[in-house]
Order: sequence, then C-alpha cells, then structure tokens
Amino acid sequence: MHNLSILIAASEVVPFAKSGGLADVAGALPKALAALGHDVRVVMPCYASIDKALYGLKPLEGALGVPMGVMGEAWAGVYESVLPQSTVKIYFIEHQGFFGRKGLYDEEGQGYADNDNRFIFFSRAVMQLAKKLRFRPDVIHVNDWHTALIPVLLNTVYANDADFKGTGTLLSLHNLQHQGKFYKGAMDVLGVGWEHFNASELEEYDGVNFLKGGIVHADAFNAVSQKYAQEICTPEFGWGLDGLIRDKSYKLYGIVNGVDYEEWSPAVDTFIPARFDSDDLSGKAVCKEALQHRFGLAVKSDVPLIGFVGRLAEQKGIALIATIIEKLLQLELQIVLLGAGEKWAEHFFSQLASRYPSKFACYIGYDNELAHTIEAGSDLFLMPSLFEPCGLNQIYSLRYGTVPIVRATGGLDDTIENYNSANRSGTGFKFYDATPEALQATVEWAVDTWYHDKEGFKKLRDNGMLQRFSWHEAAIAYENLYRHIVAGRHGSKEQESR
Ligand code: ADP
Ligand code: GLC
Repeated sequence: MHNLSILIAASEVVPFAKSGGLADVAGALPKALAALGHDVRVVMPCYASIDKALYGLKPLEGALGVPMGVMGEAWAGVYESVLPQSTVKIYFIEHQGFFGRKGLYDEEGQGYADNDNRFIFFSRAVMQLAKKLRFRPDVIHVNDWHTALIPVLLNTVYANDADFKGTGTLLSLHNLQHQGKFYKGAMDVLGVGWEHFNASELEEYDGVNFLKGGIVHADAFNAVSQKYAQEICTPEFGWGLDGLIRDKSYKLYGIVNGVDYEEWSPAVDTFIPARFDSDDLSGKAVCKEALQHRFGLAVKSDVPLIGFVGRLAEQKGIALIATIIEKLLQLELQIVLLGAGEKWAEHFFSQLASRYPSKFACYIGYDNELAHTIEAGSDLFLMPSLFEPCGLNQIYSLRYGTVPIVRATGGLDDTIENYNSANRSGTGFKFYDATPEALQATVEWAVDTWYHDKEGFKKLRDNGMLQRFSWHEAAIAYENLYRHIVAGRHGSKEQESR
C-alpha cells in the first residue's frame, strides 16, 4: 500500500505551545504516523511565546498571501522546524497582528474578541501553505474548532483546485464544549459565500458555529475515545450539537489517544528527583518525600498522598472537589493540587492551603516539571471530570504507579478498569454519579484500600504500571481511517465524472 501525505493542522503543539492535551496529541501523533512511513507535515500558529531560537525556527522565503474576504488580503510569514527527535516538518504561520500576543486564545480569562478572524486567517493560511509547498495532501487532519473551517474551505473555495484533487479531511474532536461560535459577520471574512450560512452548515441561532461547519463538511470525524464518541450523541454531552452528530454518526469514529512514553515514563523522566519502574519502586518513595518536602507537607511515607493536575475548569469536576475537600481533609491523607483557570477555584484552593498547611498544598499556575513531579510522587491521582473526551493524566498516572480515582465518563471510563477486591483486578477506583457524595465515598474507598488492603493496593498499582497506551496503536487506527477517507473521496470523484 502506498504511503500517505498527511497535513495536520492544530492550534497548539508540544513543545512549542500548550494549554492542554490537544498539544500533547498534535506533538506525538505525527511522529507515530511518520514512523509508519507516511509523509506528515504539521502546521500551527506562530505565537509570540514561541522561542524561535530555542527551537531552531527558520523563515521560509516569501510571504504567504491569505485571502480574508472583506478584510482583503493578509500576509503571513512562515517558519519551519522539526518536531523534536524526529524529521517531521512543522510550519509556523506568523502574523504580528493576530498571533503576536501573550496568550493562545485569551488573556486573564477573556477570550480575544477577534478569535474568529484569527482562526479564519490560520485556516486559510494552512490551505495557502499547502499550495506554496506543492504538498498535495491525501488527507488534511484538523483538530477542534480552531481548524474546523478547513474542511468547509476545501469543499467550497478550493473545490476545483487541482492542488487538492482527491484530498480528504478528518476532524478530531478533543472537546465539544468549545465550538467557535461567533457573530455572523465572520461569514464576510471567511469568504465561502452566504449560501453556506444555513442551518445545515454553518449557521446556529443566527450566528456562525465553526465546529458545526467542520462536522458537516469533513469526510469523517472522530472523538478521542470510544466512549466519548457515544456520549456526544446524547443531549447530556452534545453541547447542542448532539442532533447533528447523530445525523452524521455514519462518519463518526472513536480513537483513544496514546501517550508519549519517552516523555511520560518514570524510568527515563529527567524532571523527577529519582527514577523507578515496576520492578523497583524505591525511587517512587524518594519522589513522594521530595514532593511533600517541596510543598511543606508533613514528610511521611505512611500517609496516602493524592495528586491533582489539570485545568481548573468546570469540566474537571473542580466543584465536586471543592464541595467535599474539607471533609476529606479530616481523614489521614494529604492532597496536592496543580492547576490554573477559574478564579473562584484559584482563590478557594489557595485559601484552603493556608488553613491546612500540613495536609493540603497547591500551586496555582502552569508548571510542566511540577506536573511530572506530582505524577511521580503521589499514591493516588484524582480526576473526577464531569466529561472527559480522553484525558491523559490518568494514563500518565498508571505508568507512574499512581492509582487513578476517576469518574466513569469518556476516556476515563475507557482507560481505567475499576478495582475488584474479590480478585484484585482493575487499575483504579471509579464512580458513576457526578455528585459530591459519590466522589467522597470513592476517595474513602481508595484511602481505606491503601490502609487496610495493602496487597490489593499494590496489585492495583502493578496492574496499572503494566498498561500501555501506545501512539503506535493509535496511529494505525488513524492510518486506517485516512485510507477509508481517501477511498471514499476517490469513489465520489469517479461518480461525479461519470
Ligand atoms: P485537557 O486537554 O482537557 O486539559 P488532558 O488530560 O488531556 O486534559 O491533558 C492535560 C495536559 O495538560 C496534561 O499533559 C497535563 O499534565 C497538562 N496540564 C494541565 N494543567 C497543567 C498545569 N497547571 N501545569 C502543567 N501541566 C498541566
Ligand atoms: C481535550 C480533552 C481531553 C483530551 C485532550 C486530547 O482537551 O479535554 O480529555 O485528552 O483534548 O485529546
């Protein structure tokens, strides 16, 4: 079978810019696809925060003309580099006005008012870049709302462009909550024609919905776990798009994310104070001690330490945690939390830390090294999400021997198997109802297991450390889907020409 030319567009890519798991995926999947023999290119915006010298970004010659409808033509600079430890080329679209700012999407919790124009610009620039490079992709793989307009552009303004003859599109949904909803005037900038502003394409409640357009126009779309693919067909998880998603479910797939074990593995992790693996956990004890020490908690090996790392967003179940955390702190346990986001939560947890200094600590902010340290030094990992398309931290936790406590939703349900004390099977502790009571009962169960079923806890940890969620497997699933898309495109082209 011939190798594919794959263009992957994402608004964030590790290590260049990251706000969440999308960046991890966009940094790792391309490498795994390249390892299968495909010609993969990645494109992302050139945010001001990207250190060009550090990552060896080189300017490509000539500016890229980007049509912006009524705004006229805008010009983009293009930089080139490679994904670390690979030969996969990544391109950066530069525009001082749109991307020369502090944040990726927002500042101080306020989304940029021109996010519609910023990502219309980026999406159109991706198409123009493919032409400039004469790349002729078999598939353009886009991610979330930021790049969801690319399938719309391909089917409209580029429909008869020879450079995209036979090009298919895949839209990955990493989070359906954020859809890119804007004032309808964005249609004038997008420039695909107002005839596409209708309820079956881009229009929703008299505004433009980028993600909706992507779902309609992509040849296929996928959620980042099987369970989330099922959930988004229901009103509870569909964020208003469940009707459309049910209609389009014939082209909906579920592919669970992998993990980059070169980065997230306690045997090779250089961020953590001591390395360890499933054969020898003595390094984990060192990591726990260092973590307690760093946060000023009581340094004790015989008390369970629970970690939390994540965006302080409603999605992550932070309100559930906040409701019961004081009750939990009456137990013999310790909790550390790393995260930033909702202001109320930042205040709440900071305050709490000053009241329970030996049992609870938090760091409000973004710190990759600390994220690794918490994964390594904790005994249990808390992830009570209300919804979770895939979730990466619980998968990292497994590998670090840090037993996850999760709500059975989306990828958390797919990747964690509940503990069964009868035969000591499972990899974590799960609860089902999104209630503070259910969360509290499950943390108590986990803590009780730690104290009173030591063999069972050890088995749980060992089971988890043996799990593998490799990108190799996920890349094969994506490859199969790309081939299916390409075959479909060729089929429809043949029909058209008959
Ligand atoms: P999401 O993409 O919804 O935020 P994931 O679990 O898929 O959730 O991925 C989150 C990623 O972001 C993980 O790699 C996690 O370690 C990282 N992360 C989240 N918050 C922080 C933070 N405050 N500091 C460092 N890393 C963080
Ligand atoms: C999103 C989801 C998260 C997922 C990540 C990568 O941000 O919230 O569950 O793991 O994307 O796919």
